[in-house]
Amino acid sequence: MLKLANSKKLNMSAITPSSPYKPVSFSQTVITELMIPSYSNFGGKIHGGILLSLMDKVAYVCAAKHAGNYCVTASIDTVDFLQPVEVGDLVSLMASVNYVGKTSLVVGIRVISENIKTNKVCHTNTSYFTMVAKDEKNQPVLVPGLILENRDHVRRFFEAGRRKQLKQNYKQEADQINVPESEEICKQMLTGERCLISG
Ligand SMILES: CC(C)(COP(=O)(O)OP(=O)(O)OC[C@H]1O[C@@H](n2cnc3c(N)ncnc32)[C@H](O)[C@@H]1OP(=O)(O)O)[C@@H](O)C(=O)NCCC(=O)NCCS
Repeated sequence: MLKLANSKKLNMSAITPSSPYKPVSFSQTVITELMIPSYSNFGGKIHGGILLSLMDKVAYVCAAKHAGNYCVTASIDTVDFLQPVEVGDLVSLMASVNYVGKTSLVVGIRVISENIKTNKVCHTNTSYFTMVAKDEKNQPVLVPGLILENRDHVRRFFEAGRRKQLKQNYKQEADQINVPESEEICKQMLTGERCLISG
């Protein structure tokens, strides 16, 4: 049985009694796309926004397949571009549901680029997209539980749960950041920073 931590009303119609859980492999998705010249930035490399858009697409397919519902992107957990992607590279984005909450799910995405001539493969980034399933009335809806099929799936589930906790702690701390009223104190605190207070 799926447990609900709070009493918020959720539409459970998407989950049939015979199949309240789905395996990770059911929704694993790969999108591969050739990087054409119109995707490049002023430096001749592939624009970061193109990669983000592809990541959002693969996250959507993976999440919607698991949820059996329309999904929206709620947040993205760090996007680090580790290597530039070149025009002519073949980019593959591999997406897998790492974690499910009640109406949200975390999709892990690994992006690799391949030079078609040399077959050299680079890991360009890994990110985690939190997606929320929605019903026909645009309300968050319960997602199926996740069947973890191997040790990697278990590790990813644990890691995603921990990241969720850390993000909550970070948000609480970030909300408490206060700017001192006194300009003198501000100046002292900004000693060593590359800024000047002019007004
Ligand atoms: C994200 C969104 C669905 C949250 O709606 P909400 O009414 O605040 O819903 P809730 O507070 O009940 O949260 C629903 C779930 O989303 C999760 N969630 C909400 N905001 C989140 C965020 N910023 N990051 C991660 N998870 C988030 C909650 O933890 C909850 O998960 P759970 O059900 O698994 O416990 C809503 O804000 C939304 O529709 N945003 C716009 C999304 C969109 O348009 N995306 C495209 C970007 S251009």
